Amino acid sequence: MPIDYAQLPSPCYVLDEARLRRNLLVLRSIQEETGVKIILAFKGFAMWSTFPLIRQYLAGATASSLHEARLCAELMGRRAHTYAPAYLPDEFSELLTYTSHLTFNSLNQYERYFPTVQQFLNHPISCGLRVNPEYSEVDTELYNPCAPGTRLGILAEQLGDRVPPGVEGLHFHTLCESNSYALEKTLLFFEERFGRYLPQLQWVNFGGGHLMTDADYDLRHLRAVLAGFSRRYPHLEIILEPGSAVAWQTGELLTTVLDIVDNKGVRTALLDASFTAHMPDTLEMPYRPRVHGAFDPGRVSADTLPPHRYRLGGISCLAGDYLEAYAFERELQVGDRLVFADMMHYTMVKTTTFNGVKHPSIVIWTEKDQLRLVRRFAYEDFKNRLS
Ligand SMILES: Cc1ncc(COP(=O)(O)O)c(C=O)c1O
Repeated sequence: MPIDYAQLPSPCYVLDEARLRRNLLVLRSIQEETGVKIILAFKGFAMWSTFPLIRQYLAGATASSLHEARLCAELMGRRAHTYAPAYLPDEFSELLTYTSHLTFNSLNQYERYFPTVQQFLNHPISCGLRVNPEYSEVDTELYNPCAPGTRLGILAEQLGDRVPPGVEGLHFHTLCESNSYALEKTLLFFEERFGRYLPQLQWVNFGGGHLMTDADYDLRHLRAVLAGFSRRYPHLEIILEPGSAVAWQTGELLTTVLDIVDNKGVRTALLDASFTAHMPDTLEMPYRPRVHGAFDPGRVSADTLPPHRYRLGGISCLAGDYLEAYAFERELQVGDRLVFADMMHYTMVKTTTFNGVKHPSIVIWTEKDQLRLVRRFAYEDFKNRLS
């Protein structure tokens, strides 16, 4: 049964367990058919109440900080594949206890920290380097890891004839909600620049950005691309670490209209949620979310647009906390509920308590069509982030 939004508290993020399982089944089938390992990038989705389900399908997670690595060890029950642009000296030893694979962003970081890894004897840690293939199809600079001057990854010209001692893997991350054709082209650049190191290595991590669970993603082509790479380098383990693809289209953000204001004909429906605090990509990317029952003037021809237009306003005081108008079939009323589609990835992990605005509750709509309220936020959550 679809989610019964009438039962939900507002505002709330609601995850549909059945849709999450559907995505996980796709990811498992890719792993089974190609032999690659798929892990969840916590930076995109770290709703840990879903980890009992996720760990049935995925091989673990990738962490970008001590806290993500600890979450992985504690709640996924596996050590993390850890990568951060730089590691903190006072956290590094603890980080190792939660880590199985550790990737360095620069040769400086390798030189500084590899001796500590060598002295760490509790469990094996496989070290890698993040490299920059200098090719990305991501147009938005904010999300382009290969933009000129990027701080992310080592350039081919900075590596010598061999990777430094103890390095067992290479990692690149260049995609963002991309298809398998973008991966295929990236691999051409990666192999051209870094192929000579691959015979020495044990694994290669193709990063995230593979939107494998999108309806338009060509899974057959992905399988062929992965099979081709495996044929060329049969000794290498391939790791993919998507975030978005895991949670893609698995849930919504439900909000309520609190007021309608009019400024010289510009009407704004004020909501009990905030774009800047709860859906930051809508302002940063900027990205236009789909709103159930609403038409987006940018996507529909003007003559078919319904007549009632409203900007959607966030509840914070930030002047820019709004989205340009959507069109509705009928006038909006105070108390109406608006549902923003596809709000699981890069939302909960990025929220703030800016202005002290109420943080949306977190709800799971279970496979048995029951509402499970997993978290409600309170004054203490706001207070405890400040001092
Ligand atoms: C190093 C790395 N790996 C994985 C990901 C996950 O990417 P996505 O959520 O687009 O799949 C990111 C996203 O920024 C990343 O920086």
